[in-house]
Amino acid sequence: MEAINGQTEVYAVLGKPVRHSLSPQMHNAAFSALGINAVYVALEVEDPSALSSTLRAMRNLGFRGANVTVPLKEAACAAMDRLDPEALRTGSVNTVQFTQDALSGFSTDGYGFVTAYEEAFGVGLRGSKVLVLGAGGAGRAVALTVAGQGAASMVLCNRTIQRAQEVSREITSQCPNVQVSAVGEAERVEAAAEVDVIIQSTSVGLHEGDVPLLDAAAFRPGQRFFDLVYSRNETVSVRAAREGGADAVSGLGMLLHQGAKSFSLWTGKTAPLEVMHAALLEALK
Ligand code: ATR
Repeated sequence: MEAINGQTEVYAVLGKPVRHSLSPQMHNAAFSALGINAVYVALEVEDPSALSSTLRAMRNLGFRGANVTVPLKEAACAAMDRLDPEALRTGSVNTVQFTQDALSGFSTDGYGFVTAYEEAFGVGLRGSKVLVLGAGGAGRAVALTVAGQGAASMVLCNRTIQRAQEVSREITSQCPNVQVSAVGEAERVEAAAEVDVIIQSTSVGLHEGDVPLLDAAAFRPGQRFFDLVYSRNETVSVRAAREGGADAVSGLGMLLHQGAKSFSLWTGKTAPLEVMHAALLEALK
């Protein structure tokens, strides 16, 4: 990083909690590599209900850009003056651009997921039969993205089946060509046997001692498994999928690519992917 001085531009990720975020390491490494005089910090939003006034105050202070993370992505969407089509479609904003007259909101999560998926597996999702585990904020977003990519069919599986049913209805109204159903935990293993692709979007694997939702016996060679959870080594879910013969990756690539797109939106420059990836690996040590 260049020495901080009177010209240094400020960027931040807002969330609650947010101190665990790896975005500061990733973006500061990118600024440094490109010789941009800027700093990126993590700011915990004390009162999420005051997000709109917080963002306007940041614009007033000359912040150049921000990311917004859990649990503020929907509230951020409501606080924007302008939205890109993806933010509009998902009702979620993870990237804010501050300009003199407006707050502009973008969602780069879908791009990050699709880019990481295609990079990992060498193919896209079009025509695939997909199982999405989890229908919380992350699950809903990834399910809408997968549907928009032209999956042939989708099964949404959530512990609380009502949440899966709600997301399923949303997909049907946005993408009527995608065949979608909602199931509860009891049908998880059966559903896994029927699909080509399994996406793990629950919080399982974030904590020490977590047990994967599907064990090795639930997978087979030829299946692709994408875990939105990430860690330096294998996540517990990725380990089980690989033991079962599936091709499996964690969510680090998604974090990288959503961040790279935010970086480009703010700076107008191509993100230095290698540098950002190395910074993430270093931060996970
Ligand atoms: P996020 O925004 O990260 O998706 P969230 O909206 O709180 O967070 O959603 C967490 C997801 O993980 C939900 O799908 C949740 O299932 P419920 O809707 O039934 O709560 C899922 N989840 C968390 N712990 C789980 C567990 N032990 N077994 C199964 N699902 C779990």
